[in-house]
Amino acid sequence: MGFEQEIKKRRTFGIISHPDAGKTTLTEKLLLFGGAIQEAGAVKNNKIKKSATSDFMEIERQRGISVATSILAFLYKDKKINILDTPGHKDFAEDTFRTLTAVDSVIVVIDVAKGVEEQTEKLVQVCRMRNIPIIVFINKLDREGKDAFDLLDEVEQKLGLTVTPLSFPIGMGYDFKGIYNIFEKNINLFSGDSKKNIEDTIAFNDINNPELDNIIGKKAAEELRENLELANGVYPEFDKEAYLNGTQQPVFFGSALNNFGVRELLDCFIEIAPIPKDKMSQERLVKSNEKTLTGFVFKIHANMDPKHRDRLAFVKIVSGTFERNKPYLHVRSNKKMKFSSPNAFFAEKKEIVDISYPGDIVGLHDTGSFKIGDTLTEGEVLYYKGIPSFSPEHFRYINNADPMKSKQLSKGIDQLMDEGVAQLFTLEMNGRKIIGTVGALQYEVIQYRLEHEYGAKCTYDNFSVYKACWVQPEDINNEEFKEFKRVKQKFLAKDKKGQLVFLADSQFSLQMTQQKYPSVKLHFTSEYE
Ligand code: G4P
Repeated sequence: MGFEQEIKKRRTFGIISHPDAGKTTLTEKLLLFGGAIQEAGAVKNNKIKKSATSDFMEIERQRGISVATSILAFLYKDKKINILDTPGHKDFAEDTFRTLTAVDSVIVVIDVAKGVEEQTEKLVQVCRMRNIPIIVFINKLDREGKDAFDLLDEVEQKLGLTVTPLSFPIGMGYDFKGIYNIFEKNINLFSGDSKKNIEDTIAFNDINNPELDNIIGKKAAEELRENLELANGVYPEFDKEAYLNGTQQPVFFGSALNNFGVRELLDCFIEIAPIPKDKMSQERLVKSNEKTLTGFVFKIHANMDPKHRDRLAFVKIVSGTFERNKPYLHVRSNKKMKFSSPNAFFAEKKEIVDISYPGDIVGLHDTGSFKIGDTLTEGEVLYYKGIPSFSPEHFRYINNADPMKSKQLSKGIDQLMDEGVAQLFTLEMNGRKIIGTVGALQYEVIQYRLEHEYGAKCTYDNFSVYKACWVQPEDINNEEFKEFKRVKQKFLAKDKKGQLVFLADSQFSLQMTQQKYPSVKLHFTSEYE
């Protein structure tokens, strides 16, 4: 198969949701369709259980397990599908944000009863910022939930999307009869049996066909006709271009647990979802069909087993092919590197591969040379944008608790920050180090790992910060900026890349600062236009 065909074959995407909406169940059903796994339950261990939130060791153990399953690839109808796992747990939100830089599209799962939840809002916001094509899957139709139209309204309003349903439920909960597939113009009847034969669909080119009344009952048929008419009047017609450029979002209904509506979703997905996209680098637009390799690291996963200290760096291939044992340029260090055992991912296994294509993810064994955002090329000096840091939620001073081990401590902190476990800020005034995290849990993880992996001990002191804001002065030489730096000295720090950050201690002080120094722009993320 030629290079271009290999690219066209690939669909690389993420499934995002608020915890418990059904992401794991849906992932598993998709894998079953691909014949990648034999039984339900195989993906479950990929999930960080709610009950484990107070036990970080358990979470890390589960994260260890999830290395192998963090990319799930399978073949379906001759397409190579790469699903990138995105942890729903909010303490790992940053991991998910970074993973979203490596997907070409997403499927958002929403619980029919709970509607749009907090975590969904945040994640969709990130997707919208990047114009990532989104398909919405409304799940758990076998349960009582919100009215379909109300839910579509809610999705539009809370997520700021422009939706168009491509399927429509017939009844719900106890009365759930099936789904009308607007995209394919047929009906799939629900039997409430997860092992149901998925071929069991009835074609209906004309919804007014009286046969429909016999099949689903007169009342349900009338209701469906009314609903479809209404939907037709209210929502725009599906427009593939609009979906691809992120301005329209198709919606499907179903029940992942009962394997219902999943095939429709998948069949439509492989038809409309984007193939690996061209990507903007800081230097130029890189086309996915360029022959030379470019790729970037979007995730680093530490091995929790103390006997195997290596880490796995996940590289998304943007252009060209990645070949085993071929030397590539690690752009940041300006060094050539060769990889004798690059991992590819297939279903729940990882294996060594000789060649990978745009859209694929390779896992590279790493002993500390990679950082999130690093690029590999065949010689070109090129960096990809779009792996921003967001303001952490928690901030603490980190102190060295064993003066004999200060070297180990700084090495440990350095490497953990490269992995993206947390963010480091160094105060301008006195050089004290502050660790910022999205969840309080990360402090325990860091302390534990510093001790067990680097032999260093640390303690923390509270440091009250409302938000970290990246500072963008209009002109570094103007008086206003100089005054800002002098007056706010106590609250200024450098992030790991040396960018200036203002640590606002309250919402009020942030507002006051913005008013007082209008030419100094303050951003909640490290990358801004
Ligand atoms: P997540 O990855 O988004 O966190 O959600 P997950 O798939 O684990 O699903 C959360 C719960 O919702 C699970 O139940 C799962 O069985 C259930 N679920 C998923 N899809 C459907 C559906 O279509 N209908 C119904 N009725 N339930 C669904 P649990 O009891 O929390 O877990 P488990 O004990 O079943 O593993």
